[in-house]
Amino acid sequence: MPRILTGIQSSGVPHLGNVLGAMIPAIKLSENNQSFFFIADLHSLTTIKDPEKLQQNTLATAAAWLAFGLNTNNNVLYRQSDIPQVAELMWYLNCVTPFPMLANAHSFKDKSNKLSDVNAGLFTYPVLMAADIILYDAQIVPVGKDQLQHLEITRDIANSFNYLFGETFIIPEAKINAKQMIVPGTDGQKMSKSYQNCINILAEEAILKKQIMSIITDSKGLEESKIPNNCNIFQIYQLIGSESQVQDLRKKYTNGGFGYGHAKTALLELILEKYKEPRLKFKKLMANPQLVNLELKKGAKKAKKIADSVMKKVKKNIGLV
Ligand code: ADP
Ligand code: TRP
Repeated sequence: MPRILTGIQSSGVPHLGNVLGAMIPAIKLSENNQSFFFIADLHSLTTIKDPEKLQQNTLATAAAWLAFGLNTNNNVLYRQSDIPQVAELMWYLNCVTPFPMLANAHSFKDKSNKLSDVNAGLFTYPVLMAADIILYDAQIVPVGKDQLQHLEITRDIANSFNYLFGETFIIPEAKINAKQMIVPGTDGQKMSKSYQNCINILAEEAILKKQIMSIITDSKGLEESKIPNNCNIFQIYQLIGSESQVQDLRKKYTNGGFGYGHAKTALLELILEKYKEPRLKFKKLMANPQLVNLELKKGAKKAKKIADSVMKKVKKNIGLV
């Protein structure tokens, strides 16, 4: 069975886009394979300089994965920083990574017009990502299209290392989900933390309600017939509702006598009903961080076993023992 591994940015509580686009498909994939998931808290340090926020984000991200049902008996969920060898391996990899390869990485290049704002961590971000992957003999790495270049860099680094020091690392492959859905936000653009158009399905009901009520619509009156496919509320509803629920709402739109306020209430009720269990579980975990930490420690113990054996080989091959 191939080993699947992917890193999750610890940027806070996942929104509906993250949940439908990334988490649920990954959890599905993990039901038939052993998957490694880690919270990339070391990567977050390139931008987050607030210890409390870093901790809170890690907790919320891990709690969300657990709340949506990731099975940690068959899979491995851990915190990147719990396996410090990843930083050690990164140094070895730094020493075989050509400078121009990193200078060409989008993650750096996009910000290189203002170099005073770029820290060295951001520059070497892809090397840490390579270490994340090859330290665990990962074979398949599910990522979004924006991460493809990082996977190419990982493969180049691992190949160079193998060429210089003998076969050490497995060369991983990226797995892109071509059919990944794009969840629209409250303004109709792609839902993203950076656009502040998110629906946080795990948030307190009052916050969730406020976000749903802020969905932008046209100004058609209550009595008018409406076109479901042109409406942001409907677009979101149809990603979550059952076929009959969606048909039902579609009819109400076209019949008229059904306002956007009604549609928003219908969406809120659907979310509260559909995600009742994860919402409850998430709330419980957030109130008991020790439960989440226990899960992360359990994962780190499993991950460390593999990291130890790969590192032993690395150090021997480079001549450090
Ligand atoms: P954000 O844009 O909110 O910062 P991230 O870039 O951290 O989100 O994305 C984390 C994961 O969630 C990625 O796998 C990404 O493809 C997925 N994702 C993010 N936004 C959406 C969306 N609107 N629809 C579908 N998937 C999404
Ligand atoms: N850079 C990835 C992102 O922004 C997160 C990540 C870190 C990752 N290390 C990884 C993904 C290793 C896959 C494999 O989404």
